[in-house]
Formats: sequence, structure tokens, C-alpha cells
Amino acid sequence: MRLVPLLTITLLGLASLGAGPGGGVDAPPPLLSGTGLYADPAKLAIDPANRPYAPQYPLWSDGAAKTRWVHLPAGTRIDATSLDAWKFPPGTKLWKEFAFAGRKVETRLMWRSGSGWKYATYLWNPAQTEAALASADGVKNHLELESGKAHSIPSVKDCRTCHENGGSEVLGFNALQLSPDRDPLAPHAEPLQPGMMTLATLVQEGLLTGAPADLAQRPPRIPAATPRERAVLGYLAANCGTCHPGESSVLSRLGLDLRVPSGARDAAALPWRNGALDVPGKTSIADAPEGQSRRIKPGAPDLSLIPYRMASRRPARQMPPLGSVLPDTVALELVRAWIAEDLAPAKR
Ligand code: HEC
Ligand code: HEC
Repeated sequence: MRLVPLLTITLLGLASLGAGPGGGVDAPPPLLSGTGLYADPAKLAIDPANRPYAPQYPLWSDGAAKTRWVHLPAGTRIDATSLDAWKFPPGTKLWKEFAFAGRKVETRLMWRSGSGWKYATYLWNPAQTEAALASADGVKNHLELESGKAHSIPSVKDCRTCHENGGSEVLGFNALQLSPDRDPLAPHAEPLQPGMMTLATLVQEGLLTGAPADLAQRPPRIPAATPRERAVLGYLAANCGTCHPGESSVLSRLGLDLRVPSGARDAAALPWRNGALDVPGKTSIADAPEGQSRRIKPGAPDLSLIPYRMASRRPARQMPPLGSVLPDTVALELVRAWIAEDLAPAKR
């Protein structure tokens, strides 16, 4: 029933996503080829004005291979005055393509229109030649990954649940994620390819305003007691710190802060120590003795809620609560080893 007005708006917006200088288009075009991603849609040749990049700490999405591009309108710059909440000019577009087993499944798009950030995702056809706009309600169980587990296409409401929790709506294109001082232990990180945008290229090309003068010389690097701790904190910041703390009343009441500020230089001053280290859970671990569950219990991963909730894929318990149906076993092993060994009381 909602289809008719939606379609009308879509057709009005069709001509020019990003063509106008203000990028003031609110409705997504019906086809991915209409979003400006390709210079030659018939060959799926990416427009060179859209630059590839790879965040050093990617989001776990059931093992999907991801490719990302960013488009800044010519002559515009990113306001980096607040290092952890960059402000992007109207007309900015970011795409993220998801592939499973070598086949493209969906390509997500965020763009900044005159009235704020908009979200859409496009589903690839079986011939892999074009992708069509998905329903704003998402698609449950779109692609079976293994028996009984399927990848779902998120609704626009789901996009906002992860992308709009305070701070910047853009989650993976920021100072820490683009730092050329990359973490060699980051789980699932895609290697940098020639031509990818980093903090260094952004500074060189003069695409940032308001950033500290020494940003390129001293790029962000998570301060940590061990190399493994650095990778764990980066993983948690990217996969969890987008909601924890969060602005909703449920999230802010938890007081669990897993972010890592880009400018942080002191490992002892990071927020996880107050919000998680030896802090009793508001919820508890099913098999733990009463009152023993801690968010992170040094030396005891089995009494620690963070790996417990990461390992679960029961709807009421899993973390993150949406976006994946399989636990991230690689990251889980890293987090458990960090708690068991690096945080063991004798070592601290
Ligand atoms: C489970 C939380 C979650 C959901 C749901 C989600 N995203 Fe994201 N998204 C992220 C995170 C975290 C990143 C950055 C890390 C990365 O790219 O791997 C990201 C990155 C992106 C990017 C690249 C730009 C950026 O912000 O870094 C686009 C585009 C994007 N998402 C679009 C969407 C759209 C459209 C939807 C809904 C159809 C959606 N996302 C749903 C968490 C989510
Ligand atoms: C999309 C938002 C979102 C993301 C992303 C997210 N969480 Fe949560 N988390 C919540 C909400 C909402 C709650 C409160 C309800 C509940 O306990 O399930 C919560 C609760 C928790 C709790 C319980 C705290 C306590 O004291 O009992 C833990 C632990 C937790 N999350 C860990 C994580 C970890 C680890 C990640 C990343 C791997 C993560 N979360 C990612 C929304 C999120």
C-alpha cells in the first residue's frame, strides 16, 4: 500500500542522486547503477571519483567479504575538528558491498542529503549484472549461509539502530579506522590495496579541515598493554562501541563504554576500564555462580559477560543484537585469550 507514493518519490529522485551540488536528494534510485557508483554500469567499472578504502577494524558480518567506496563532491572537505565525529559535506556517499562465497549479495549505500543521512541497500541479481533497491523493511532470511542460518537484509530502521547512536553516523571512515599505523592482529582486516584512501591520503590531498596539524605524523594508534590488547580494544570499539555507550535510555543506563578515542595515548585512561573491567553485570551468565558475572573478569573468560554475549546467537542474548547469525569465533578466541592471559591478576 505504501508502494505507490514511494515509487513516485523514487522516480523524482531518479535522475540525480548526488548530481546536484547540494546532494539534496532524499529517495534512493531504484537501481544501484543509478547511484553513481559506476562510470560504466555495463562493465561494473567503478567511477574513479569513488575511492576505495578499508577500515582497519571491520564489522563482523558472518564472514562476508566487503568492499567499500567513498565519494566526496568535488571541491568539498570533511570537517575533522571533532576527531571522533567527522562532519561530511552534503552530497557525500559511501557504499559497502557484501559478497558471500565469491558472489555479490547486497550493496549498502549511505548518503548525506540536505536533510541528513539516508540509507538504502541493493540486492544483486543472479546474473550479477545489476542490483535493485531492497524494501525499506529489509528481507528476512535472504541467503542461506549454513543449515538453519541465513543472512538477512537489514531494514532502514536496523541501519539507524547501528548508525545513529550519537557521535558520527559514519562508522568506519574516521581517523582511527583509516590510520596508516594499522594493527597487524585486527581480526578479519582486509589488507590495504594500492589506491585506497587512508588518513595519509586525506591529509595529503587537503580533504580535511580542522584536524590537528600533526595528524599525519602521529596517526591514531590504540594504546594498550600488549599487542593482543590493542587488537581486542579495536575490535570492541568498532563492533560494539557504536552502541556502547549509546544515547538511548537503555544503553546509557548500562554505563558500558567500549569506545577508544582517536587521540588516546594512555592505556590506563581508556573508558573500558571504568565501564567493564571487574564491573558486575546488569545481566548474568546462565551457568555462573550467582553474583559472579562480571563484564570482564580478569583471568576468567567463563565469568566474563563480553565473550559470553559475543558467543551467543540467541536473539535475546547475542551481541551485537543484530547484523549477524554466526558468532565470530576468531574474535572470540582473541578476547578469551586476552582475558585469560593478558589480564590474569598475576600479570597486572
Ligand atoms: C550491526 C550494526 C549495523 C547495521 C545493522 C548496519 N550497519 Fe552499516 N556499518 C556498521 C559498522 C560498524 C560499519 C563500519 C565498519 C565496516 O565498514 O566494516 C558500517 C559501515 C557501513 C557503510 C560504510 C560507511 C560507514 O559508515 O563506515 C555503509 C555504506 C553502511 N554501513 C550502510 C548500512 C546500511 C544502508 C544499513 C542498513 C541497510 C546498515 N549499514 C546496517 C554497522 C551496521
Ligand atoms: C546495536 C546496538 C548494540 C551493539 C552493536 C552491541 N550492543 Fe551490547 N547491548 C545492547 C543493548 C540494547 C543492551 C541491553 C539489553 C541486553 O542486555 O541485551 C546491550 C547489553 C550488553 C551487555 C550486557 C551488560 C550487562 O551489564 O549485563 C554486554 C556485555 C554487551 N552488550 C556486550 C556487547 C559486545 C561485546 C558487543 C560487540 C561485540 C555489543 N554489545 C554490541 C546493544 C548493542
